[in-house]
Amino acid sequence: ETLDATGLHILPGAIDVHVHFREPGYTHKEDFGTGTAAAAFGGVTTVFDMPNVIPPTGTAEALAAKHKLASEKAYVDYGLYGLLGEDTIAHVPDLVASGVIGFKLYMGNTFGNIPSPTTGGMLEAFEVVAPTAKRVSLHAETASIMARRESRLRAAGRKDPLAHLAARPAVVAVEAVSRAAVLSEWTGCRIHVLHISSAEELRPLAEAKARGVDVTGETCPQYLLLGAEDYGRIGPVIRVNPPVREARNQAPLWAALKSGVVDMIATDHAPHIPDEKVRDDIFTVDCGFPGVETQMPLMLTEVAAGRMSISDYVRWSAVNPAKAWGLYPHKGILQPGAHADIAIVDLKRAWTIDDQKLQSRAKITPWHGRAVTGLPVHTLVRGRFVMKDRTLVESARGTGRSVHTVQDMPAPRVANPDAAMTEIVKIPASSRGDAATGA
Ligand code: DOR
Ligand code: ZN
Ligand code: ZN
Repeated sequence: ETLDATGLHILPGAIDVHVHFREPGYTHKEDFGTGTAAAAFGGVTTVFDMPNVIPPTGTAEALAAKHKLASEKAYVDYGLYGLLGEDTIAHVPDLVASGVIGFKLYMGNTFGNIPSPTTGGMLEAFEVVAPTAKRVSLHAETASIMARRESRLRAAGRKDPLAHLAARPAVVAVEAVSRAAVLSEWTGCRIHVLHISSAEELRPLAEAKARGVDVTGETCPQYLLLGAEDYGRIGPVIRVNPPVREARNQAPLWAALKSGVVDMIATDHAPHIPDEKVRDDIFTVDCGFPGVETQMPLMLTEVAAGRMSISDYVRWSAVNPAKAWGLYPHKGILQPGAHADIAIVDLKRAWTIDDQKLQSRAKITPWHGRAVTGLPVHTLVRGRFVMKDRTLVESARGTGRSVHTVQDMPAPRVANPDAAMTEIVKIPASSRGDAATGA
């Protein structure tokens, strides 16, 4: 096969560590075929799929079923998250043996009504995962506060779309990130903070990194590029968990990416169909929207506008995700010996996002009508075309593979927070008498 790439640029395929491809259980929204086709069109060559499906991916049986579905349909490579909750702690060894890329823990409730563990349950879960070296990705929001606040607003008859924004103060994320960081520090369990949406939660994240906690963070295009003033223009489609917040949060999120406090961009690709997204009562609208297909064009537009460099983008979309999940140097980089996971892009192409043309089964997004500059023209996974000239390569269906087989996570650093604590507060270890000191 020959290819004329005159005028095009070659980037490492993006690694999107946060997608919901809805299978099994919600295939009217998406499946591994449509979801990974969307990834291929978005220049994304590896995705990590979330476990909030039916049944939740919390047992070896459920995981095996999902591996089968994905391997039969996927156009791009994938990792599967195992669900980490109080009732799945006992399944951790089996899940690891059956091939998870990592675990997902819901500190707050979201789509699928997955129960959130107590703090004690989380501690136990982290203790069990730590020796497996896997990373635990967190939906870091305090459960009860948001549920209660939202039902109070609902009871008060608030219909204004901004009520949802008001219903979700950033403190629920600040508290959750802080608590998770402490549990990570004491257990050595690696963590990843999903969908960072506010300036406020950057502080506990930065502090944890400064203490040496093995924590990574992601933000999403919707938090970098949208703000509260977009609710009126976009309508209920914009509803997502966590919510798009006031525009004042955007600059600190960009700065955190540049300084390395936030490591990467993921999308939280969370497709729902139009019937589930467009409702008069915003409280009944399903949260989330597709993103895997529009992330690269949206971000390349920011490159064209001079807001970041192309190497910033590659670091946040490919290099850092690969490093955090032990896929580097096989994935996330173009070099001899690495997998040829490649997005060939036209950095100059100006076009307008049209949700009817999305590969995703959920043909509705807040990005509809947005002018962008930059388009993936061809996508290759391990050297084979999966999307060529903006056309899906049908024969690539079922060629995507689980990347847990290439994952190499070194044993976590042995945490010794007790020593740090003694230093800071000057409490003689001998007088503490708790189990952690061995006294
Ligand atoms: O908006 C969201 N949608 N946030 C989540 O945490 C879950 C996701 C979904 O699965 O729909
Ligand atoms: Zn989430
Ligand atoms: Zn999500």
